[in-house]
Amino acid sequence: MKALVLSGGTGSRLRPITYTSAKQLVPIANKPILFYGLESIAKCGIKDVGVVVGETAKEVMETLEDGSRFGVNISYIRQDRPAGLAHAVFVSREFLGDDDFVMYLGDNFILGGIEEFVEAFRVAQGGVNAQILLAKVEDPHRFGVAVLGEDGSVVRLVEKPEVPPSDLALVGVYIFDKHIHEAVRSIEPSRRGELEITDAIDRLIEDGLSVSSSIVEGYWKDLGEPEALLEGNRLALDLLEGEVCGRVDSSSHIQGRVVIEHGAEVVASVIRGPVVIGAGARIEGSFIGPYTSIGPHCTVRSSEIDYSIVLKDAVVEYVGRLEGSIVGKAAKVTRRESRPSALRLVIGDNSQVELS
Ligand code: DAU
Repeated sequence: MKALVLSGGTGSRLRPITYTSAKQLVPIANKPILFYGLESIAKCGIKDVGVVVGETAKEVMETLEDGSRFGVNISYIRQDRPAGLAHAVFVSREFLGDDDFVMYLGDNFILGGIEEFVEAFRVAQGGVNAQILLAKVEDPHRFGVAVLGEDGSVVRLVEKPEVPPSDLALVGVYIFDKHIHEAVRSIEPSRRGELEITDAIDRLIEDGLSVSSSIVEGYWKDLGEPEALLEGNRLALDLLEGEVCGRVDSSSHIQGRVVIEHGAEVVASVIRGPVVIGAGARIEGSFIGPYTSIGPHCTVRSSEIDYSIVLKDAVVEYVGRLEGSIVGKAAKVTRRESRPSALRLVIGDNSQVELS
């Protein structure tokens, strides 16, 4: 079995965090979203992984390299435009050959990994042509949605319906056998102009092939909004085992599951987990509260930060308390002592500032 990881698409997204980086590389619990997918693929014993790349190819390739850090061999597949998930399968035909494969969307995160799901497909030994994962969601209109029959079989899939026929969303992990290639070739672009994998799976059902489904808990997808990113960070931090590699002085207190990476320094501070403090970061006279990720080489001084993400090289100083916040790479949030006592902001496009 092979794996196909989709990390294409354009770099420009609505929120400022992804103006300068691929959305699949945004870190949750200080690790790019994409890494969680690759790690769970590796855990399934899959070695050959094709990574579909688009506009952000350079950044993705520099981050994943040849895959050896995950114990897999990565082949990169260029997709010249984000023409749809089925199009990504189409351009990967040569890499995939006639092998079964797991298709993993690089912006999806599944709390318990995918081993059980892959094992179920293997056990079926050719009895199943495609296997999909579903999750109950509150906003099904933002996903592909499944209609199941009374016996639990998949009757139909609809892509982002205005009126969703169920609350069962298609999770971005699929397993296919070689029949998907013919289905991909036989479909037309959708209303949004993309070759939809949902339509290709529907074609398999129409052709009488076997499509099975299972339901997962703990599903999260990057929905391009700060609240969703903070929620993903929370889920990922919940997986943490505490480990202190950096230096913590005797006047600091570490409570609960906290990771302090190499070279980080905590001075006169309270860190209440789950929290991760990145390599080389410095926390001084501060409180870092539950569900917070502080990226590598950040500085936090005389501040309180709770339920937040601070990306690498950022500086947060003398700001009182930050909550539910995302601070971008190398951004600086500080207090000015000189007059006039006005707010002074230099914030990027589409940024969001809430003053209390
Ligand atoms: O995440 C689950 C959802 O993913 C499913 O519920 C939907 O049925 C499915 O169509 C898909 O919906 P999205 O519209 O949210 O997919 P998105 O455009 O965000 O792309 C998902 C990933 O695949 C993302 O990491 C970018 C990558 N991609 C996307 C397209 C369209 C590619 O590599 N190439 C592409 O052409």
